[in-house]
Amino acid sequence: MSSQPKAQHGVFFYDFNRQQSDQKQEILQGLTQTPKRISAKYFYDQTGSELFEAITQLDEYYPTRTEVQLLKDYREAIINKAGRHSVLIEYGSGASTKIQLLLDALKPKAYVPLDISKDFLFDSAIALRQLFPWLEIHATCLDYSQPAKLPHGLPVNAKKVAFFPGSSLGNFSPNEALSFLKGVRKTVGDQGAMLIGVDLVKSDEVLNAAYNDAKGVTAQFNLNSLAHLNAIGDGNFNVDNFQHHAFFNRALSRIEMHLISKYDQVVSLFGQRLSFKKGEAITTEYSYKFEPNHFANFVQGAGFESEHCWTDKQKNFALFWLTAV
Ligand code: AVJ
Repeated sequence: MSSQPKAQHGVFFYDFNRQQSDQKQEILQGLTQTPKRISAKYFYDQTGSELFEAITQLDEYYPTRTEVQLLKDYREAIINKAGRHSVLIEYGSGASTKIQLLLDALKPKAYVPLDISKDFLFDSAIALRQLFPWLEIHATCLDYSQPAKLPHGLPVNAKKVAFFPGSSLGNFSPNEALSFLKGVRKTVGDQGAMLIGVDLVKSDEVLNAAYNDAKGVTAQFNLNSLAHLNAIGDGNFNVDNFQHHAFFNRALSRIEMHLISKYDQVVSLFGQRLSFKKGEAITTEYSYKFEPNHFANFVQGAGFESEHCWTDKQKNFALFWLTAV
């Protein structure tokens, strides 16, 4: 796509999502290995994106409200670091809620929300444009865990600032996180910077509660990935036949989310038969938690320097300002 696409409702829209055949390969490979695995990105169909927004409102789920408070408390300092008139690229933009706290002051030349959930991205981008009619938006549907591809037609010669809130980096294994950060470093270039939200290691009680909320929204969110797989691969998973299981694995510093098969069962997906033993788990998500010092060292391997770290009093969550070195 080399020419500027037509804007719809004032938003430029690009779809770089992969072919269904690639997804099929990836999904079946994960579900035929031992232990079974699917990528956390399969949470985010329309329903899953909405369920995630509901999670962010839960009492037990401290990350979102803590990060939003950090963005409010340290807004001036963040704006000073970023400068005005940058090209602002958000990885996994979802409902584009957090960025709204910064837009008026940052006055970016362009905002580039990247998200895997196409309709959700499109609706969110149009709603954002209504709130900020002056903002040039290039909404780009893609899987940001794949090598990045940005739309053509972005303003040139502007500083690029990446925004990656929510501690979604924690979904990657340490190796994947490193190559992802290298990719971002390449995308933002030598003058670029990154504002990234990182969830910190804390007590088992607080962590386990955040992923096992009393209302069962996280359980619904986890189980919904099976409904999403059904839609992608013409499958017949019965979500009632699986159970949500989430816990903090301190040795590996990560929350693990699994779906446990309640029975011996056979499921069909992409025309293939998949068998599950009673009690067998599908791993659906890792959510790594970080120590601030360790994180600052880690990003150096990707060509970034940690220039500043903002945290709340209880050290529940951190926002890092990274610059290219
Ligand atoms: C969006 C990946 C940051 O790991 O906390 C919320 C997703 N999973 N509840 C997280 C999630 C279960 C969330 N991230």
